[in-house]
Amino acid sequence: MSDPEMEYTTLGDTGLEVSRFCLGCMNFGSDREWMIGDEERSHEIIDRAIDLGINFLDTANVYSHGESERIVGDVIEEYDREELVIATKVYGSMGDGPNKQGLSRKHILDQVEGSLDRLGTDYIDLYQIHRWDETTPIEETLHALDHLVETGKVRYIGASTMAAWQFTQALYESDLDDYARFTCMQPQYNLVDRQEEENVLPVCADQGIGVVPWSPLGGGFLTGKYDRDSEPEEGRAATDEHTYERFTDENWAVLDAVREVADEKGVTPAQVSLAWLLHQPVVDSPIIGPRSIDHLEENVAALDVSLSDEERERLEAPKNPVWSRNIADL
Ligand SMILES: NC(=O)c1ccc[n+]([C@@H]2O[C@H](COP(=O)([O-])OP(=O)(O)OC[C@H]3O[C@@H](n4cnc5c(N)ncnc54)[C@H](OP(=O)(O)O)[C@@H]3O)[C@@H](O)[C@H]2O)c1
Repeated sequence: MSDPEMEYTTLGDTGLEVSRFCLGCMNFGSDREWMIGDEERSHEIIDRAIDLGINFLDTANVYSHGESERIVGDVIEEYDREELVIATKVYGSMGDGPNKQGLSRKHILDQVEGSLDRLGTDYIDLYQIHRWDETTPIEETLHALDHLVETGKVRYIGASTMAAWQFTQALYESDLDDYARFTCMQPQYNLVDRQEEENVLPVCADQGIGVVPWSPLGGGFLTGKYDRDSEPEEGRAATDEHTYERFTDENWAVLDAVREVADEKGVTPAQVSLAWLLHQPVVDSPIIGPRSIDHLEENVAALDVSLSDEERERLEAPKNPVWSRNIADL
């Protein structure tokens, strides 16, 4: 079978061209049992993703404590840097002791240097705050990020996983102070985690903010690899609590609908789930997290799956999304 033709879009209201899938790089490391833990295999997945036309890669300083950024850096030096859009994040703990986490000016200015070094690049295309920092005024964070944009170390800034009021406050403050504005939001969003429809997604639609959903397959739940009647012995859910928490009656009902639509169309549940995200007007580029080349190829082929309004309604019917404050604690 020939490779699907990659599609590109501009990220939110910016002119930045990104592939319709972003390659999530959290699996490239050895921090957790469910990660790849094999550099050569990680390199092969990144190479194949770029070969398939993916030009957008998402990592974070905290992913396996810098290991993911280093692996990405080793691979991208072989490619045309101008074509690639490299995204990373700051906020999470990078060690014990004071000033090792959060969004203070000091921590951001320290961490950007570490990320640039591990990524082996002079600039980061999209620098994202991984979470909201309750202890640092957002003006301080925005001022530090604005400085990075002004000095050319960062091209665009983005945010992830927070309450809509916090994100709105940040946009308002940057407009007020004439600081660089967040151009992109990274929320958890997939067919079984739809709470962001009641939180940050309406803000993004209104403000022209790019949306790059994380865990687009619910950590693997939406691939249909698990069964309602048995405990997971393999796959991420076997060792990752957050993935296992998705095993609820309501989510199994979503998966029933996904399997039904997939059977009717002769495609896989993962492809239906990803195609549903690609059909959401607010979504630019779901961040897929393949653990093998087979996963990657199967997932990217979702580009060729089109869903009717009736199919989308069936997939959405089992859920009635509500926003819960503790989602921001993820
Ligand atoms: N901003 C944030 O706070 C945040 C949080 C989480 C993730 N992220 C970003 O989002 C990216 C993706 O997140 P995610 O890894 O949770 O995404 P995901 O696509 O929901 O889950 C990926 C996992 O599902 C399984 N899988 C994927 N494709 C499959 C297929 N075709 N068939 C069978 N199993 C398949 C694999 O796990 P197994 O093979 O182990 O079952 C894989 O590791 C991350 O790499 C990271 O860049 C950001």
